[in-house]
Amino acid sequence: MLGYTFPGMLDPRERLIVALDVSSAAAAQKIVAAVGDSAFTYKVGKQLFTAEGPQVVRDLVASGHRVFLDLKYHDIPSTVGAAVREAAKLGVSMLTVHASGGGKMLRAAVDAARRSVPSSRNGSLKVLAVTVLTSLDDNDLEKIGVRGKVVDQVLRLAALAIADGCDGVVASAQEASELRSELDGNFLIVTPGVRPAGSGRGDQVRVVTPAEAIAAGATHIVVGRPITEAADPAAETRAILGQISF
Ligand code: C5P
Repeated sequence: MLGYTFPGMLDPRERLIVALDVSSAAAAQKIVAAVGDSAFTYKVGKQLFTAEGPQVVRDLVASGHRVFLDLKYHDIPSTVGAAVREAAKLGVSMLTVHASGGGKMLRAAVDAARRSVPSSRNGSLKVLAVTVLTSLDDNDLEKIGVRGKVVDQVLRLAALAIADGCDGVVASAQEASELRSELDGNFLIVTPGVRPAGSGRGDQVRVVTPAEAIAAGATHIVVGRPITEAADPAAETRAILGQISF
């Protein structure tokens, strides 16, 4: 078997997250209807959440889907803890926080998630840390006062996040292999920037195939436009699942 496997992850649908990067609930529902049973989890990010608010999340959860709420919380610990409590009430399965918010903030997020009532269907709420945005390079980091290489900052922040109880990190496939080799433990790695073999790149600069991401150590892949803009989203989703069914 290739790649990193957690108990209960043998169904490739457990590993796939479809990004709903659209501006209306109607557009999101259209994608969800077109994908059908081929995906379990949908990512709601800042665009859709800002446009439609929490009802779009409630509706997805009520219709039996899992939601990864990607709002990348970064604030004082009590504010982030309170936001995570509200996210838990919406029934989301995964959410993101910025690791650079520091250990106390991460711990507040994790504590709030642990205190939430696990859903019988989706299990406990997973807190994922974003380390260094992939849009930043070494030069950008220096300008915000961080000396050294992006990869070292990624490893430092990931180690902090995991030590403070986060369930995993969001990381590129390149970072995933470094994280797996440098850090101990069974943490989740959620990898965006994935393109099925032979498809367009969109505006993602460094892209990998689904199989490459899993082989690098990702537990989950996030795929947006290759599915949401496909003529047949269900067929595209099945093709991707086929590429991660080892
Ligand atoms: O359409 P595409 O497959 O490129 O969508 C990727 C998703 O993953 C988007 O929602 C994007 O915001 C997110 N993402 C990313 N790169 C990161 C972190 C998140 O592309 N480093």
